[in-house]
Amino acid sequence: MSISTISRQVHHPVKDVSTLPKPRPTGLSILKRDHPRATPPQASTAFEGPPRTVSADLGVPTLHRTVVDYANFDHAASTPALESVKIAVDAALRTYSSVHRGNGYASRITSEWYEDARAQVHGFVGAREEDLVVFTRNSTDSLNLLARCLPRQTTTFVFESEHHAALLPWNPARTVRIPVPGSEQDALILLEDALRDAAGTAPGPLLVVVTGASNVTGELWPVESIVSTASRYGARVVLDAAQLAPHRKIDIEALGVDYVAFSGHKLYAPFGAGVLAGRADWLNEAAPYLLGGGATASVTSGSTRWNDGAARHEAGSPNVIGAIAIAAACASFETHRDAIEAHEAALAEQLSTGLAAVDGVTTYSIFGPGHERVGVSTFTIKGLDSSLVSAVLSAEYGIGVRDGKFCAHLLVDALLLDPHDDDSPGAAVRASVGLANNAEHVSRLLGAIATLASDGPAFRYRHTPTGWVPVEDPRDLTLPRPW
Ligand SMILES: Cc1ncc(COP(=O)(O)O)c(C=O)c1O
Repeated sequence: MSISTISRQVHHPVKDVSTLPKPRPTGLSILKRDHPRATPPQASTAFEGPPRTVSADLGVPTLHRTVVDYANFDHAASTPALESVKIAVDAALRTYSSVHRGNGYASRITSEWYEDARAQVHGFVGAREEDLVVFTRNSTDSLNLLARCLPRQTTTFVFESEHHAALLPWNPARTVRIPVPGSEQDALILLEDALRDAAGTAPGPLLVVVTGASNVTGELWPVESIVSTASRYGARVVLDAAQLAPHRKIDIEALGVDYVAFSGHKLYAPFGAGVLAGRADWLNEAAPYLLGGGATASVTSGSTRWNDGAARHEAGSPNVIGAIAIAAACASFETHRDAIEAHEAALAEQLSTGLAAVDGVTTYSIFGPGHERVGVSTFTIKGLDSSLVSAVLSAEYGIGVRDGKFCAHLLVDALLLDPHDDDSPGAAVRASVGLANNAEHVSRLLGAIATLASDGPAFRYRHTPTGWVPVEDPRDLTLPRPW
């Protein structure tokens, strides 16, 4: 897009919070009732369309000495909070107190909302009645927790295309790494071969790890087919839903997976909590993840008896605000599912069609063109270092993307490295759409990429140990600390 168009989109960085729906009064109104009954805070449904984030109208300075509406294409890394999540968190802070550790009014409310949050997540992931929902820190934590709970001698099967959080936590001596597949069919054949080889000789249970949507290409994995292949060998399946949960309905029971992991900060609930949901038996038989209060049923000077259930792996005071934030996001997703999917589908289509039309741009895919994907596109521009591209997009256009290997080094190497081309890129740029985006953002990104591919950057940049920076930078990139 031209500079003059950018300069017309001036927005002030500070959002007018008075326009936000007011938090529902909670504690006071409950206190006035004869028989208090805590109710979790409700998200506002007063607006049409997909739910809004609190980051709308964030203005960012550019090298053109303009302030433009921030075009955040980094949803796959972390998402801004939904307005409904902020409202729920603000309300929950009013009665914030200890969880399962006090009899005071606020403690009882907080404890009840913590368990209500667990029930909300249970429904959100379509868990079986007897499944556990454990609150963790994030997907990495959830998958590490599961890895610690595997029965001894479990063999784990993992595709090399996985995010490092799903690739690395398993016992290396008992992990079968499956190469990056070239097609869905290939993935199923490779998995079947690996399971068949192990089935006769593996001494313990089998576990297959699969991601719902790739964090590099956004492509959906054939989860149901993977489950049906795994089940022929009696293997359990854990679904890494870090990228799937913000875009598609997850249904543990319908998919037939045994465990699901996802992160609050990728589901518009950035308050430091994540989820591991799934079968109770291995979780109940394993040693607690952390040893301490909350995980214990009884302690004597000679012995400790551990709790069963989620509490076994939630020792210490839990992140109740994070859990409530996730529950609020889940509630918003359930209410606005169709609007969210329609919004993202339109933007994802605009992005992928637009990228395909730019000369000099290469986009990447595991399963081949046309495969169903969420709004994540990874690309390179011929002759331009990907980290320079992301620096220019930010400095000249007010666009945020991610560059590098996205914690999926084996997959990015497999997609980008051409053994016959010494100049093949070692890293890529990822643009991921979400609820903070609109069609103008995508047009601006596509225009910027086309200009970069044909003319290069408009300003001069130098490479520093922390990345590319403009040689001259008139922007004030600081903001007063919010505390
Ligand atoms: C597919 C996938 N799995 C797992 C993770 C790890 O998530 P977290 O950093 O929240 O632990 C990510 C993060 O980008 C991801 O994209």
